[in-house]
Amino acid sequence: MTKTIVTGGAGFIGSHTCVELLAAGLEPVLVDDLRNSDERVLRGLAEITGRQPVLHRIDCGDADALDRVFAAERPGSVIHFAADKAVGESVQHPVKYYHNNIGSLVTLLRVMDTHRVKDLVFSSSCTVYGNSGQLPVTEESATGEAASPYGYTKVVCERLLRDASAADASLRAVLLRYFNPVGAHPSALIGELPIGVPNNLVPFITQAAAGLRDKLTVFGNDYHTRDGSCIRDYIHVVDLAKAHVLALQWIAKQKAPVCEVFNLGTGEGNTVLEAVRTFEEVSGVKVPYVIGPRRAGDVPAMYADTAKSLKVLGWRTQLTLADALRDAWRWQLALAK
Ligand code: UD1
Repeated sequence: MTKTIVTGGAGFIGSHTCVELLAAGLEPVLVDDLRNSDERVLRGLAEITGRQPVLHRIDCGDADALDRVFAAERPGSVIHFAADKAVGESVQHPVKYYHNNIGSLVTLLRVMDTHRVKDLVFSSSCTVYGNSGQLPVTEESATGEAASPYGYTKVVCERLLRDASAADASLRAVLLRYFNPVGAHPSALIGELPIGVPNNLVPFITQAAAGLRDKLTVFGNDYHTRDGSCIRDYIHVVDLAKAHVLALQWIAKQKAPVCEVFNLGTGEGNTVLEAVRTFEEVSGVKVPYVIGPRRAGDVPAMYADTAKSLKVLGWRTQLTLADALRDAWRWQLALAK
């Protein structure tokens, strides 16, 4: 069986993807230094799948260590999740973000080339669309004006992959633009592990509901949206994980070199206040919240056109925002045990 290196495989999206790879009969090999995760995820993975995937505990920006992993494992493909992802932190520490996110992709591409590994799935983000005037965004919508250094690292990485595949006719790359990944595995054995105060909405909601945070601040209610709060396309992490399996299978069928971009969202936008209300309905718990000022860098609305993912990959979401919030809540309760 060919192996797939999964960098960031112990992370939020990476761990859920490993579950789906194993369910599809594929063999993930995790490369993760656990800086943003911990052993609980590995135990959860083992419990869900009945398997203990191999983990190489290294920084994937460490070229020598990565080279040794490729030499030992002889993978057929790579899914590259490992990256820093906090928008606010990226504004404070741009050099760290450019170094980690772009540097690790450069290192990975070099090591892949040395070992003649040509199939790559890359984690990109809807942040590359910036503040798009045209909604829903399609893969053809303009990119480039990302609102943060984090977002711009994704723009640069995408460009790097396009340039690399134009120069190397055997590279087969798929770039997946995630909208807002939320939720947790329905088993409540794996989920998101935010370090410190969560930046993202859903972990903040679940922590506020659990009494770990005083209250949620809704960042702005004066946008031109149906209730004044921002609109996002929240996608269940299990649906997102499944798309990675389909992407790998699609790449394997390609005869010609490819560098293809896909949106991964539900195609529907929900406001922050709708997400809060839906959470309250599925959990039966009130979320204490106040309305605060807008957060710098937030776009008013963002949601995906998903026609291409359906047509080419045969992928569509099966789970709803309510499912995602119910699973996120179960995970929050499980963490407290
Ligand atoms: C952004 C990126 C996304 C990236 C993610 C990584 C865009 C459009 N999206 O998501 O691609 O993967 O960061 O972190 O750039 N909110 C509150 N109160 C809170 C937290 C959030 O009201 O305490 C609101 C935000 O204003 C926003 C929504 O909730 O409207 C979602 O925010 P968040 O979960 O942080 O994700 P994005 O910023 O949309």
